[in-house]
Amino acid sequence: MKIALGADHAGYRLKEKIAGHLKNNRDKQDVVDFGTNSEDSVDYPDIGIRVAQAVQNGDCRYGILLCGTGIGMSITANKIHGIRAALCFTADMARLCREHNDANILVLGARVIEPEIAIEMVDIFLTTEFAGKRHEKRIKKIAELEDINLNESAKQGLNGLSGC
Ligand code: RB5
Repeated sequence: MKIALGADHAGYRLKEKIAGHLKNNRDKQDVVDFGTNSEDSVDYPDIGIRVAQAVQNGDCRYGILLCGTGIGMSITANKIHGIRAALCFTADMARLCREHNDANILVLGARVIEPEIAIEMVDIFLTTEFAGKRHEKRIKKIAELEDINLNESAKQGLNGLSGC
């Protein structure tokens, strides 16, 4: 099971810790690292989009994204169709975002959590199954919202053309 990993400069160090942890506990091939690879400043959307697309197109089953607060990465990833990115701060949140929300990307704020809890959340996130049942219809409603937005933008595109 491949896991896409990405961080901006604020999340770089914690990303490296998480990558080491995953490589020690899983097949090394399972971790696909989308950078960044230093503490030099980068823009979080540039990394976030690559991880989100790797999950969206099925190359990776899950993604893990890090920035300073986790906010920028979660806003970015949730723009991508089919992505349910969850910004988590506790072990319970990491479990519930899988059980209830079928989250496919875990987002962590490297400047606001301790590394130990981050590793714990990663392990919980990767090993917890979606509970389904009553949660299925809620996930379906989110998917329907994405489709409405897609259709609306397609319509706007057509309106734009008809005005030419
Ligand atoms: C970078 O300074 C910081 O803005 C970024 O890591 C993140 O916290 C944004 O949401």
